[in-house]
Amino acid sequence: MINNINKEDFERCFGEELTSFLKEKIKNFDLSYRELSKQESNDVVLKILSYLYKDTDAIIQAGQHRLDDWESGWQENAEEFLKYKEFNFLIPKYFGKYPYIRWNKEIIKPCNKNMEYNLVSILQYWIFEKFLKDCSNIYEFGCGTGHNLLRVKEVNPEAQAFGLDWSSSSQQSIANINKVFNTNFKYDKFDFFNLNSEFYLEKNSGVYTFAALEQVGDKYKSFIDFLLKNNPKICFHIEPIGEYLDDENLYDFLSKKYFEKRNYLANFKNYMYNLQEQKKINIIFEKESFIGSMFINGYSIIAWEKNYA
Ligand SMILES: C[S@@+](CC[C@H](N)C(=O)[O-])C[C@H]1O[C@@H](n2cnc3c(N)ncnc32)[C@H](O)[C@@H]1O
Repeated sequence: MINNINKEDFERCFGEELTSFLKEKIKNFDLSYRELSKQESNDVVLKILSYLYKDTDAIIQAGQHRLDDWESGWQENAEEFLKYKEFNFLIPKYFGKYPYIRWNKEIIKPCNKNMEYNLVSILQYWIFEKFLKDCSNIYEFGCGTGHNLLRVKEVNPEAQAFGLDWSSSSQQSIANINKVFNTNFKYDKFDFFNLNSEFYLEKNSGVYTFAALEQVGDKYKSFIDFLLKNNPKICFHIEPIGEYLDDENLYDFLSKKYFEKRNYLANFKNYMYNLQEQKKINIIFEKESFIGSMFINGYSIIAWEKNYA
């Protein structure tokens, strides 16, 4: 049976009514899917377990050694985008790689191969509208091709948007976007592992990371320090944050094991809670992930403000 994720489903997930902007956006996406048969569920769990039981050497861990991989990935996107001049070529190729995705703690079979990306787009529109509407400057750290910045611009066309990443092909990609779509995004090189002491945030800034801080394991403290020193208006992270997932749910449990194997973001929620206890920040919003790829439930949200008291 074919199901369709509708406005009411999102309202249940978000825990609030959709704005008119979001209602309009949702109409544009194919969000139809079917549930898995027993055989398909078994196959998926088997596939995930066989990945998790691989030798550690056979698993690509996140970390400093991965710069060249990101360079070549974004280079490929940048070249294709320049050739075809279509938004789709900015979408990272890891979307739509497997026939199954996650929605609301279940694994489902989407009818459209772009469904994970469509869900991610809706999630971003929701959170961008909630937190970035009144910012004058908006920064995405670890921005890849820069495709998310185009959604930022839809939500807040007046703001100056910046895309930062450690790979040079990311900066090339954003330069291409500016040329093709006539945008004026700023871009720069920025490495979470080796912070550039010259780089600073402009006034009234909104800062976010999307599936980027995941790449640093537990080495995010100096970045958070950097943000605190720069007095941002609002920061949020949409990332695989294990502490938000549910150990009693099989797919969440496997997702957490996957985070550990890949050396993804570790202990992040705890760290942010400690900062709050030390009265350095106020956590203003958090939400466990309700969408993901076949392997992970990877888009939990934590938003915070510096405590100026
Ligand atoms: C999964 S991709 C997500 C990219 C982008 N946020 C998006 O949503 O398409 C992870 C990103 O983190 C970047 N990254 C990884 N390690 C980094 C580091 N040490 N400093 C800055 N960026 C880094 C990669 O180059 C890549 O663009």
